Amino acid sequence: MSSAEEVDDLVEEVEYAWPDLQVDVDEDGIAKLVVNRPDALNALNAEVVGQLRAAIEELALDDAVRAIVVTGSGEKAFVAGADIAEMSEYDALEARSFSHFGQDMLSAIEACPKLVVAMIQGYALGGGLELALACHLRVASTSAQLGLPEVGLGLIPGFGGTQRLLRIAGPSVAREWILTGDQFPASEALRVGVVNRVVEPEALWDEVRGLALKVASRGPVAVQAALETIRRGLEVGQSEGESLEADSFGMMFSTRDMKEGVQAFLEKRKPEFEGH
Ligand code: CAA
Repeated sequence: MSSAEEVDDLVEEVEYAWPDLQVDVDEDGIAKLVVNRPDALNALNAEVVGQLRAAIEELALDDAVRAIVVTGSGEKAFVAGADIAEMSEYDALEARSFSHFGQDMLSAIEACPKLVVAMIQGYALGGGLELALACHLRVASTSAQLGLPEVGLGLIPGFGGTQRLLRIAGPSVAREWILTGDQFPASEALRVGVVNRVVEPEALWDEVRGLALKVASRGPVAVQAALETIRRGLEVGQSEGESLEADSFGMMFSTRDMKEGVQAFLEKRKPEFEGH
C-alpha cells in the first residue's frame, strides 16, 4: 500500500469517528463542516467538542482543503449553545474542565492555518456564538439571532466568549451582550462588528463560498502568515505586534509565491500561486 493510500485510510477512519458532524470537501477545496444534532439545535456536548477538534485538525492537514466553512444543520440553528442537559450534571471541577476543553477546541479553530468562515443561520447562542467568534470571519443570514444568554442560566460564557467578544466588538458591546443575555438580530450584529456580512438566507451559501474562494485564490503562504500575525497580534502590544509583522513580511520575500505575485503584477497577468 502506498503512503498516500495509508493516509486516505486514516482519513476515512477519522471521518467515521465523527458521528455528529458532516464533512464535505467540494471540487474547489472548500470544506463544509456541519454540526449535525438538529434535534438539540446542534448544541455542543463534550462528544461534539472533541469531534470538532479532531475534524478541524484533520482538515488543516488535508492538502485538498483550501478553506473551511463551519455551520450547523437545518434552518433553525447554527448552534444553540453548549448542551445544557449534559452540563446540568457537572460539578464545579467538571465544568471547569469542560470550559477548558471547549476553549482549546476553539483556539485550534482560531489557529487554523487555513481560512475558517462561520456560516450563521438561525440561532447562534452561547457556545454557538463562541464557536462563530473563534472563526476568522462570520457571515450571517438575515434570519440569524445571536447572543450570549448564559447569565439567564446563572452562568457566564465558558468557551472564550468573554474574551473574544471583548476583542472583536469592544468592552461596551461585550458588556451589553453578556450582561443582558439578550438575543440580537443579524443587522445589529453587523452594526457592532460581530459579523462581517449579512445576506438573505437563500444567498448565504453563495456569499460564504465566494468569500472563501476569494481568499483561497490569494497566496496561501501569505494568507497563513496574515492570519497568524493578526491572531498573535491580539495577544501582544503594538510594538511587539509590529515586530511580528516585520518578521512575517520579511519571510514572505523568501517564498516563490511572493516572487510569482510580484512578477505577475509587473507582467499584467494573474498570479499562479503554488503555496510555497
Ligand atoms: N442544549 C441542549 N438542548 C438544547 C439547547 C442547548 N443549548 N438548545 C436547544 N436545545 C433543545 C431543546 O431542549 C429542545 O429539545 P426537545 O425537543 O427534546 O425538548 C430542542 O433543542 C428544540 O429547542 P426548543 O424547543 O427550545 O426550541 P424553541 O424554538 O422553542 O427555542 C431557543 C429555541 C430559543 C434557541 C431555545 O432552544 C433556547 O433558548 N436554547 C438554549 C440557548 C442557550 O441558553 N444557550 C446557551 C447554553 S450555555 C453555554 O453555551 C455555556 C457556554 O458558554 C459554554
